[in-house]
Amino acid sequence: MGHSKKPLDARLRAAADMVLEAIHDISMPCVADIGCDHGFVTAYLIRQRPDIHMIASDISEASLKKTEILLSQTGLDQNVEVICGDGLKVLESKKADAVLIAGMGGETIRQILEEGIDYCASADLFLQANTDVPLLREGLAGIGLGIARESFPEAGGRRYVIIEASKKAEVLSSPESWLLGTAVNGISSQGQRAYLTRMLEQMRGTHAKLMESGTKRSQAKVPEIEKTIEILERVLL
Ligand SMILES: C[S@@+](CC[C@H](N)C(=O)[O-])C[C@H]1O[C@@H](n2cnc3c(N)ncnc32)[C@H](O)[C@@H]1O
Repeated sequence: MGHSKKPLDARLRAAADMVLEAIHDISMPCVADIGCDHGFVTAYLIRQRPDIHMIASDISEASLKKTEILLSQTGLDQNVEVICGDGLKVLESKKADAVLIAGMGGETIRQILEEGIDYCASADLFLQANTDVPLLREGLAGIGLGIARESFPEAGGRRYVIIEASKKAEVLSSPESWLLGTAVNGISSQGQRAYLTRMLEQMRGTHAKLMESGTKRSQAKVPEIEKTIEILERVLL
């Protein structure tokens, strides 16, 4: 009934599988799905790891209701704490091994991390921002988190990046590295190449529109876009 048999799309599947890899040798791991909304990832993780202790949280009561219904319909509602709350504050007094924050804007995820990183000091973080990925990477550097790896699933005709952030990984500390992510050390997968190629195409499109428009405001944006295009072309060569 409902969504119980609905498979995860490639975006959520990639994020969930990165979480599973990170906890594979931890017995009875504690994992938080912050902004769980429909609860698909929470349900998937419980199915894959029946010994997991899940914390499914959302700032919206209405969203959480969807998770609660899914979990009770599928009989997956043991070992889950469903908590309404803002960002990582719900992890106060918990000890999460891994935390997933997916499907929000980069600015929102950055703010959640800046406000609440102390509540999950030893957790690996899995982050998927729908927008402003460089801004999120810059925010990670600001709170001393490095990027251990990134994956680039394609879903619904769009490429996403999933970031695994950790205190143990190298902190990216330049604007160029916030734009490129782990590709700053060279492109390491076809998915990453496809992601950056699409970004380059979008930047070229934006550049063409700005040149066409010819207003002062548009012209002021041109140098930054040209710099971005130059960096992406160099890396994609
Ligand atoms: C678009 S949904 C994403 C759902 C799911 N994580 C995914 O990736 O498909 C974003 C969810 O984040 C929740 N959210 C937004 N800001 C939040 C915050 N500060 N703390 C917790 N949840 C938040 C929203 O209520 C919404 O349910």
